[in-house]
Amino acid sequence: MRQAVVWLLNEKYGGQLTDKAKRDITRLQKGEPIDYIIGHKNFCDCKIDLRYKPLIPRDETEYWVQKVVEDLQSPGVCKFTDPRTLYCLDMFAGSGCCGIAVLKNIPKSHCDFVDIEDNCLKQIRFNLKLNGIDKARYRIIKSNIFEKINGLYDLILANPPYIGLGEKNKVQKSVLNFEPKKALFAKNKGLYFIEKFLKQAKNYLAPERVIYLEFGYNQKKEVAKLLKKFNYSNFKFHKDQFNKWRFVKIRA
Ligand SMILES: C[S@@+](CC[C@H](N)C(=O)[O-])C[C@H]1O[C@@H](n2cnc3c(N)ncnc32)[C@H](O)[C@@H]1O
Repeated sequence: MRQAVVWLLNEKYGGQLTDKAKRDITRLQKGEPIDYIIGHKNFCDCKIDLRYKPLIPRDETEYWVQKVVEDLQSPGVCKFTDPRTLYCLDMFAGSGCCGIAVLKNIPKSHCDFVDIEDNCLKQIRFNLKLNGIDKARYRIIKSNIFEKINGLYDLILANPPYIGLGEKNKVQKSVLNFEPKKALFAKNKGLYFIEKFLKQAKNYLAPERVIYLEFGYNQKKEVAKLLKKFNYSNFKFHKDQFNKWRFVKIRA
């Protein structure tokens, strides 16, 4: 706790213990995540504001999104060497961190952001402005997964809610009490949104393009079954920086 207080004071108040700082320390003592109190998080060289309380971007997500950016920057890896614009879809966008990382780091790119929650749509708009992204380079779409989506994308990024309802007791109290439940939990052992997403995603992917999907550390086997069920044949699982299975790169 002491370390968190010092960090908060330095990060937000230049080390000064003002009245507002004291109120923030009380929030911290009540268990609120420090990133909400500081109000933003850095993610792949972008500043991600959190005022509308989307899911706080996780380091595990930043790890694979950084790899996506690096892939896109290395000619040949993802075959995005053509001079035309890269079309990206950030499904389950939340704060917008994944798609904004692409827009900020890949100059010739466009991104559609999809979320079902109004606070997330506001947050995405705010963060796009904050990061100086030109309005012509994105659309923000309120949709239940693919319901309002048409067209083909070169790159689909997805970090769906994937914690099983039966796993609530394994989730940190501060997460349970303060972060949006709709961003975290899913029916069917956490696989409900992953299954819905995989069933449809290939219909929105341009030939030879790529999907990146994040999942829970204990879901690799089930995700592999779903990939087979929906006839995906070209995919590779990857671990995160903590050596846990975390994401799958799928080519269609
Ligand atoms: C795990 S969060 C991911 C947020 C962000 N992409 C990230 O990586 O930090 C999942 C997001 O999916 C959104 N969501 C939940 N159900 C949805 C649905 N049926 N259609 C679209 N988005 C949904 C939630 O509002 C939440 O923002």
